[in-house]
Amino acid sequence: MLRWITAVLFLSRIGFPEVLIGLLPGAEGTVRLPRVAGLAFAMDVITSGKQVPAFDAYKHGVVDKVCGENVLEEAKVFANKVIGQPLGSRRLSGVDVKDAGSVDSLFEAALSLAKKKFRGQIAPIYCLKSVRNSAKMPFHKAAAEESKLIIELMTGSQSAALRYSFFAERSVPKWKLPCGATVNNTKPDIIRKTGVVGAGTMGSGIAVCLIQAGIPVILVEKDQKGNLSSLLSITVSQQISTTNAPADQYIWSLQLGTHFTGSSFCSCGFIFQRPPTSVKSWQMLEKAIKNISGILDGTVRVNRMTSKQKDQCMGILKGASTINELSDADLVIEAVYENLELKRQVFSQLDQVCKASTVLCSNTSTLDIDKIASATKRPEKVVGTHFFSPAYIMRLLENVYGTKTSPTTVATVMELGRRIGKVTVLVKSCHGFVANRTHLCFGAELKCCVLFLCSYVKGIDVGWRIRQEVAKSAGLTLTPETRYLNGERVSTLGDSLYEKGRYGIKTGKGWYKYDPSNPRKPVPDSDVEDIITRHCARMGLQRQNIPPKEVIDRCLYAAINESFRVLEERVAEKPQDIDVIWQYGFSFPRYAGGPLYFASQVGLKKVFEKVCYFHEKFPYSSHWVPSDLLRKLASHSVEIPMDQWTEFLSCSKL
Ligand code: NAI
Repeated sequence: MLRWITAVLFLSRIGFPEVLIGLLPGAEGTVRLPRVAGLAFAMDVITSGKQVPAFDAYKHGVVDKVCGENVLEEAKVFANKVIGQPLGSRRLSGVDVKDAGSVDSLFEAALSLAKKKFRGQIAPIYCLKSVRNSAKMPFHKAAAEESKLIIELMTGSQSAALRYSFFAERSVPKWKLPCGATVNNTKPDIIRKTGVVGAGTMGSGIAVCLIQAGIPVILVEKDQKGNLSSLLSITVSQQISTTNAPADQYIWSLQLGTHFTGSSFCSCGFIFQRPPTSVKSWQMLEKAIKNISGILDGTVRVNRMTSKQKDQCMGILKGASTINELSDADLVIEAVYENLELKRQVFSQLDQVCKASTVLCSNTSTLDIDKIASATKRPEKVVGTHFFSPAYIMRLLENVYGTKTSPTTVATVMELGRRIGKVTVLVKSCHGFVANRTHLCFGAELKCCVLFLCSYVKGIDVGWRIRQEVAKSAGLTLTPETRYLNGERVSTLGDSLYEKGRYGIKTGKGWYKYDPSNPRKPVPDSDVEDIITRHCARMGLQRQNIPPKEVIDRCLYAAINESFRVLEERVAEKPQDIDVIWQYGFSFPRYAGGPLYFASQVGLKKVFEKVCYFHEKFPYSSHWVPSDLLRKLASHSVEIPMDQWTEFLSCSKL
């Protein structure tokens, strides 16, 4: 039983990734590592699957030598030095776990942390149990117990789902379009400079994603009247150090544009050129840039970035209040309010201002890409880039192609997603695309159950705007009293919150209230209960108790049925795309795979029966009309594997 003799390159990272696919390091990893590095280190590294830098591994005795760039030569010298040395001390079967005396307290602390951090997952718990065994049992006995535990994990449902998730995530960048273009046969445009229009929640977050990846951004915010022709340009500059400058102190900027007549204002160490007009726009930009700076400060605080790197990021961010500043951008992402006319107006202006090769992207969460693209003379260059909120945290990017979007444009935004570190999924345009379309069905059922565990980060005003847009396109006016839209039942409970200015975190109140000192923690608010009671009275609704299992089933099966429709319409290319969207967009547990993986495990016959049952019970909700594809798949006597589902869309298998 030897511990390996290892020499590794200084840039290497070392870890036990097995837990990430629901396993434990079953080749005696949980028995050996505690003997080499101690229990605390072993528990942390094995349960998290994280990779530690080579020097940390060396410090804990996991590797013998960390080499410079000439790793082969250094390793040879090292090997020659140790050849012939006695091996006794390296035989781990004879080594005790150093901190075995504290195993129980370390185990309890690690267990309670793991239960919080990896909620619902069993593999981290098994890892801890196995590491505990290694301290309590002789080497061989602990190794035998480890084998039993890994067999349980290997044959369990969580590991199967995590293995599915592992491959599903790797399958999404391999996009293909109906025209035959694929990731392999299409070259993306090169993106050097970008623009973001709208410096609100999403625009600011998107700008963070871009500058963190070293991509320069010009962030455009409208002026007081929504007029984009103002001369204001705000330049973020590192050239003048202005820390502690009083808010009303004006200093000339080194980067004054020739058209400026105003003075400049220093704040947060950056330069803002202050014009005599457009104060509101200037304030909004200042707020956005302060916000971006604050987000990056947070990244520095958790050691994900150095202060110098933060400064470099801020150095490639420039603010402006006119789209004219974007003439040179290679790609522009629009993130203004969810309003089709406004977006069309912005795209038409971008089309006139930007060079012919510029890719124009919309961050719309629901609107038809074709309708936005038709406001330009370059529909082939128009595409959706749907980020999730908060954009700098959420790893999902849903790229949306319209009927005229060219393969090169698709390749460009898919490559951009990769560059900024997103899990990037390509889908076809339709109302709500894949994420919001399937999630809206989930949410609709949830609201009908009046159990509002809805997303608390996403602005309630965004939902309100979406509903208004849907109603407008149907020629209707939506009020909180509306019960049916296009013959379909809708819940306007969110609109009752909107009426009270409860937009979510951004206004400190939404479905919950938020303490400004800890805005991520939703606090139940009795006012919301009152709003619901009043809303029900206004609508003449009788509130009733719905068992939690029914709530879960209704929400989940509504999403599953809609997901099959999405496949049916080829809005998503494969089931994996939808599952990955749910994992990264709505935190669907990876160890449960996603709505479609879940359906495959339940069995499609049962899923179909359940959907039919709810359809009968709730005939007014069109999302319960059973998907045709689901019906076809369920009618087969044998379960059809997920990879073959979409083949049933082709005529031969109907
Ligand atoms: P927001 O209200 O926070 O920000 C919109 C910003 O656009 C405001 O700062 C506004 O002043 C600015 N703006 C409006 N008209 C403009 C114009 N003509 N030129 C330049 N700037 C202009 O809205 P939010 O939440 O950032 O949403 C923006 C877009 O992102 C919407 O299409 C929304 O549907 C989408 N989205 C929102 C998500 C969310 O959770 N908030 C998630 C995903 C997408």
